[in-house]
Amino acid sequence: MTTEILGVNEESLRKAREYIEAGEVVAFHTETVYGLGANAFSDDAVRKIFALKGRPSDNPLIVHVHTGYDLSRLIDGEPPYAKALRRAFLPGPLTMVYPSAGKVSEYVSCGLRTLAVRVPSSPAAQAFLRETDLPIAAPSANLSKHVSPVTARHVYDDFNGLIPLILDGGDCTGGIESTVLDCTGNVPQILREGLVTREQIAAVAGDCGVYVPQQGERPKSPGMAYKHYSPRCRTAWAKSAEEALLLYQNEDMGCGKPLILCESGVIGELHGANALDLGASGEEMARRLYALLRQGEKTATLLIGIEPRERGGVMAGVMNRMLRAFGGNHET
Ligand code: TXA
Ligand code: MG
Repeated sequence: MTTEILGVNEESLRKAREYIEAGEVVAFHTETVYGLGANAFSDDAVRKIFALKGRPSDNPLIVHVHTGYDLSRLIDGEPPYAKALRRAFLPGPLTMVYPSAGKVSEYVSCGLRTLAVRVPSSPAAQAFLRETDLPIAAPSANLSKHVSPVTARHVYDDFNGLIPLILDGGDCTGGIESTVLDCTGNVPQILREGLVTREQIAAVAGDCGVYVPQQGERPKSPGMAYKHYSPRCRTAWAKSAEEALLLYQNEDMGCGKPLILCESGVIGELHGANALDLGASGEEMARRLYALLRQGEKTATLLIGIEPRERGGVMAGVMNRMLRAFGGNHET
C-alpha cells in the first residue's frame, strides 16, 4: 500500500471519508499529537488500529467527534460539572471519560463500561470529523511504545506502507496528549496529565483529583501502565547538569554518541556538550519534547534528559512524559 500525505482540502477530505467508510485507518492532525483514526462503530476498523500499532488489547481508545456532534448518542448521562467543563475547554485538549451508552464497537473501550470522548480544536481535525460525521476512534499515530507524532512526517516514519492516507495539518502546536479526565464520579479526576491543567479544571468544576494507581490495582487509565514515549536509543535521566555531564563523558569515552535534552536555562552549564534545547516555559517544552526525542534518537547512542526546574501548570504533563521517556524514577 502506498501512503499519501495530503494537505487538508475538499479532495483529500473526500478521500479520507471514503477510506473511513470502507473500514480503513486514516491519520489526521490534532492540536495535541497526530491521531490514527477509524470508524468507532466498526469492530473490524477498530481492531485494525490495535493491529497496526501493536497496541495491547486492554488499552482503550478515545473517540473523537466534531463540535456539532450530539454527545448524548454515545454516553449515558453526565454529572453537572461535566457540562461546565465542556463549555470552558471544548473544543480543545481535554478528553472526558463518561459512562458509555454502548453504541460504539466494544473494542473501543476494551470491555470497560466507560467511553473516552474528545472534541479536538484543530481546524484540520474538525474538517475531517465533520466530513465523516462519525465518532472516530483514534490513539496517537505512533507504533506502540514509540514517541507520539507531532508532524505528518513522524506518522509516515512509523506507518509508511501500512495506511493509505495522512491528512497533513502541519505541526501540532500543543505537543503532548490531551488531559484524560474521569467524569463518572462526584468529583472529576485526572487519569492522564496533559495540556489542560488540574488548576484550570478545579477552577471550573470546584475541585479536581489526580488518580494515582494503588499497588497491584488495575489502573483506571490502562495506557498509563505501559512503557511509553520511548526514543529508539538508550536513555538516562539526570537530576542536574553535573550528573548529566558525568553520564555524557562516560558515553563519549566509550566511543558512543551522547546527547543531552534539557531546558534552555541549563544549556550554559553544559560546557559545550551536544544538547537539544527544550525551551523555557511549560508550553514551549510540551510543544518541542516529542520532535526533539525523535530527532535525538536518529543520531544519539545515549539520550540524557535533565529534570527541568520549571514547575506548575503544563509541567505536570511534561514531567510525566519525560519520566516515562527517559525511564526516570516516578517516586520523585
Ligand atoms: O491528545 C490525545 O489524546 C491524542 C489525540 C490523537 O487525540 N490521543 C491519544 O490517544 O493520546 P492514546 O490512545 O495514545 O491515549 C489514550 C489514553 C490511554 O492512556 C487510555 O488508557 C486512556 O486514554 N483511555 C481511553 N479510554 C479510556 C476509558 N474509557 N477509561 C479510562 N482511560 C481511557
Ligand atoms: Mg499514545
